[in-house]
Amino acid sequence: MYRALPALLRGPAVALAGIARESGGEVVRLGLGPFRPYLVSHPDHVQQVMRLEWTNYQRMGMFWRPLERLFGHSIMGDGEQWSISRKILQPMFTTRYIATIAEEVSRRVAGRIEEWDGHARTGQSFDAATEMSTILTYIVNRVLFGDKLDRKDGEDIIPAFDTVANSLVYRFLMPFMPYTVRVPRDRALEKAVQRIDDVVYPIVRRAMDHPDDSTDVISMLCRSTDDNGDPLTAKQIRDALVSVYAASSETTAMVITWLWLLLKEHPQVEARLQAEIDEVVGDGPARPEHLPRLAYTRMVLLETLRMYPAGWLLPRQVMEDAEVGGVRIRRGSTVFICPYATQRLDGFWERPDEFDPERFAPAEGERRHRYSYFPFGGGPHKCLGEHLFYVEAPLVVASILSRYRVSVPTPGPYPMGWAASLRPKQKIMLKVAFAGRDRVGAAR
Ligand code: HEM
Repeated sequence: MYRALPALLRGPAVALAGIARESGGEVVRLGLGPFRPYLVSHPDHVQQVMRLEWTNYQRMGMFWRPLERLFGHSIMGDGEQWSISRKILQPMFTTRYIATIAEEVSRRVAGRIEEWDGHARTGQSFDAATEMSTILTYIVNRVLFGDKLDRKDGEDIIPAFDTVANSLVYRFLMPFMPYTVRVPRDRALEKAVQRIDDVVYPIVRRAMDHPDDSTDVISMLCRSTDDNGDPLTAKQIRDALVSVYAASSETTAMVITWLWLLLKEHPQVEARLQAEIDEVVGDGPARPEHLPRLAYTRMVLLETLRMYPAGWLLPRQVMEDAEVGGVRIRRGSTVFICPYATQRLDGFWERPDEFDPERFAPAEGERRHRYSYFPFGGGPHKCLGEHLFYVEAPLVVASILSRYRVSVPTPGPYPMGWAASLRPKQKIMLKVAFAGRDRVGAAR
């Protein structure tokens, strides 16, 4: 038993990575007061839990229950409702489908990034996480809502999701606390979810009353049926939309926020990234046809995802008594899968705490254990947004770096905060300057 509470309270992801490393990847039982989950970090064991025996490790229990208030019963749950949602949503996120919207995504990215010209002119710094979330949300809103969500409502719900992510932390810290007992920020959580519902439900109802043949997710959900051939209810559509929204904007936004910090600390990587973008994209903006040639950009993003996998903790409840790595685990127990810990495990990664995009040079992947690197999860719950990430993230990074030079005035070090996804603890400020002299002239 590993008495982990004080270390976990200081910094949970770092603490879990430390425990996994010390145990050499063995299954460890954590003593968190009355709550004693298991940490599973060895890639073989991760594969067992997430893929081979996944039905015995379900997304329910004290860690998932707080999320139900936001997600309802849909793609972020388990069981029948998850399976229905997965079947309906999966075709909307295939590589082929994402390719059909890539052109519009790139236009949206370019248009939104040009709005930084004001910052470039004044030299005013701005909050990286908020700005990355705004850009990513603008993309996701197109995918989910088409033109059915206006920009103001779209931007209004960003702080509501932010409040949810920060408020849930208290429930995660006190998973054993009954729901009849209020914990800090419960009321803020309720209000934020209400705000989200006030925006989303009217759009869902309008889309249901006036169906069209658009290819955005909400229109496709309105045309979908469940296993019995019945149309989806407004609640089912709302739950699917809100779940995908929550899973998509914050994650990618945080990965790109971490990227600016890593580039600041690794000027040689930054120089090579910039050189590739200059060569492939020129003075921009980045377009879908540039993506196949942005190979180093992709390597840098993959390494950023190794060091800072936004979905850093994937808890599961054990349905029947089980055995993992020789350790017996009783039904009802909680198992923690932590990509952050596994992706920094000695024995699977050399110099695991060092940022080195070369690990993702094309041939390298063949030598890796499939479950030593799983920023998008694995098995039947594998992330639906992975293909979208591979399109939107390089487009955002390359469009920004083809137009501006980015600097981070916030001094390091940059510890991680406590939230449902991996975020920097302090507010990170960015500054931009125009990349080309011509453009400075044009901007005047
Ligand atoms: C950097 C970006 C992202 C990361 C690191 C990430 C990570 C993850 C992880 C680890 C899971 C597995 C959860 C589990 O096993 O419990 C997951 C699931 C999911 N992700 Fe992502 N994600 C990202 C972006 C996106 C985007 C852009 C979308 C949608 C457009 C998305 C939609 C989903 C959905 C719907 C699921 C649930 C799938 C299921 O359980 O069937 N994600 N994601």
